[in-house]
Amino acid sequence: MSTETTSKTAGAPGDRVFIFDTTLRDGEQSPGASMTREEKLQVAAVLDEMGVDIIEAGFPAASQGDFESVREIAKAAKNAVICGLSRAGNADIDRAGEAIAPAKRGRIHTFISTSPLHMKYKLGKEPHEVLEAVTSSVTRARQYTDDVEWSAEDATRTEHDFLCRCVEAAIKAGATTVNIPDTVGYTVPEEFYALITMLRERVPGADEIILSTHCHNDLGLAVANSLAGVRAGARQIECTINGMGERAGNAALEEVVMAMRTRADTLPYHTGIDTTMITRASKLVSAVSAFPVQYNKAIVGKNAFAHESGIHQHGMLQNAQTYEIMTPESVGLKESTLVMGKHSGRHAFRQKLQELGYELSDNAFEDTFYRFKVLADHKKHVFDEDIEALVDDELARAHD
Ligand code: KIV
Ligand code: ZN
Repeated sequence: MSTETTSKTAGAPGDRVFIFDTTLRDGEQSPGASMTREEKLQVAAVLDEMGVDIIEAGFPAASQGDFESVREIAKAAKNAVICGLSRAGNADIDRAGEAIAPAKRGRIHTFISTSPLHMKYKLGKEPHEVLEAVTSSVTRARQYTDDVEWSAEDATRTEHDFLCRCVEAAIKAGATTVNIPDTVGYTVPEEFYALITMLRERVPGADEIILSTHCHNDLGLAVANSLAGVRAGARQIECTINGMGERAGNAALEEVVMAMRTRADTLPYHTGIDTTMITRASKLVSAVSAFPVQYNKAIVGKNAFAHESGIHQHGMLQNAQTYEIMTPESVGLKESTLVMGKHSGRHAFRQKLQELGYELSDNAFEDTFYRFKVLADHKKHVFDEDIEALVDDELARAHD
């Protein structure tokens, strides 16, 4: 899949972590977030350009539209591996194989549930039948490509001995990536670290393939769990732009990538992502999926690089590192914003006046600042136009 070597020693400096984006598959499974083929092609082009290693382009057996989207993306992709999801049945696998065929590099991602709850209520299968399906599905997928990923759905609620047997069967049948999904966002970082460690210790061949994380965010721990998995030796993170996905979503691509970049001291791993494209990707996905990004969302929220309080604005004007741990430029923003509101102080107000091209005498400044505070007390958003109106009024009164 890549010429880069991937050391499995947890925490080895310089380690490469592969980014597997599933915005177009798991992300699209967010209720109400479906995208047209054209929109999916647009998103895939941006993901490809920004350095995503593997793009999960859809679930070809789900619908004719999904099949065609995956096929078109497979034709268009320049760098990324294009992946199609499939259940364990032959028909699904064949459909995925057909959909990824035009790709320069194509992957089939096949999965089956392994937890007692899912095997009994969802599949109605005995463990030995699931184990057989692991072998047969991976073997069949390998007829289409030598890049096959196998996932143990609901892995974090699966009995350990059985999980080890399934992972071993998948590796023996030819899986080159084994994904350990936290399907219902149930695990916690320490537990997930221990799970990946346990698999590496107990499953023969586990260090010859790529172990992968796929964490959902039901408890708000998807990013922390993914990073714990990487610290334990996983070398692929499955994630989505803006953290879109089933229920509370998946681990957010922008968060895992920026966490590794910003805290390379304690998370010494690197990815191939051009982080300056993060804002563009976030805006595009939000627009085409009609899913707004919450204001205080890490990295890509409207307020992620905005400051309103006077104390923070004063600090920012002296040195941005006082209140920012990464630069806005590093995620593709032009600059941070100092939002003018009732918490803003004189320093920021003076700076704003300068930006707007005004230079006021001390008296006029104090007068205008006082009236700005009165206005800000009654108005949620104080726009540049409001401040211009205050200054114009002040200057007009000075002339009277
Ligand atoms: O959450 C999950 O378990 C999945 C699998 C299909 C990988 O999305
Ligand atoms: Zn999922």
